[in-house]
Amino acid sequence: MDRQRLSSIAHSHHPVAAPVSGVTINRLLRRADRQPTARVLDLGCGAGAWALQALAHYPDGHADGVDISPYALEQAVGAATERGLADRFTPHRRDARTYVPDGDYDLVLCVGSTHAFGGFGPTLESAGRHVNVDGILLVGEAFWQLPPTPQALAALDVESTEFTDLPGLVDVAERAGWTPVYAHVSDAAEWDDYEWSWVGSLTRWALDNPGHPDAAEALAAAREHRDQWLRGYRDVLGFVTLVLRRNRP
Ligand SMILES: C[S@@+](CC[C@H](N)C(=O)[O-])C[C@H]1O[C@@H](n2cnc3c(N)ncnc32)[C@H](O)[C@@H]1O
Repeated sequence: MDRQRLSSIAHSHHPVAAPVSGVTINRLLRRADRQPTARVLDLGCGAGAWALQALAHYPDGHADGVDISPYALEQAVGAATERGLADRFTPHRRDARTYVPDGDYDLVLCVGSTHAFGGFGPTLESAGRHVNVDGILLVGEAFWQLPPTPQALAALDVESTEFTDLPGLVDVAERAGWTPVYAHVSDAAEWDDYEWSWVGSLTRWALDNPGHPDAAEALAAAREHRDQWLRGYRDVLGFVTLVLRRNRP
């Protein structure tokens, strides 16, 4: 089964493709504190939930959403149309690393998509270039909430060096010239809601489409993911969304 399509189904019952609740998204956007005319860029925008919710906060603003997944962008455009935001949201199907902006942005988002740039540090460097001088960079990234266990490393298929702990992540931001003016650490309920939605949406789709050639693979992927989460990284992997400003002019 196409990985992008699988991910799109798995994310169909959760507001964003990250362990962040709708209430938290709004709080983070309030803390970003942009003008009503804000120009917003969402790199790795997925189904566009962050960008579209940002437009709800900035009623005369415009958002560009960049993603490589046609399925995700199709959902983003559908959601924008449904919410009457189609004229204020522009989708760009391309690699976020090669996005050439037309000007700079008041708010640049990259939540759960830092892998597109090769990690948190490179994201600050590349995505940060699109942020105007007084702008905000809002980045969601994983970190080790507890020292990684062998089970967590195996489930995520990563080395322990893939992530730092939370203070280490803030140090990386500071060294790159960015300082948090707010942050939200996802709580256990947000993680559970996100992971059960991921597993549940894929399982439900497979059970509802028993004759589909991808049904068995989807069900197997849901079970494998559930196992990796419950037996592997649950409570070990954390997720923080940082609202960052430049700490030097
Ligand atoms: C975990 S999802 C996060 C989506 C969104 N930010 C959210 O929170 O709902 C990661 C997204 O990054 C996109 N992506 C991965 N590599 C990319 C790249 N090189 N350029 C643009 N998007 C990319 C994927 O297609 C996916 O939609």
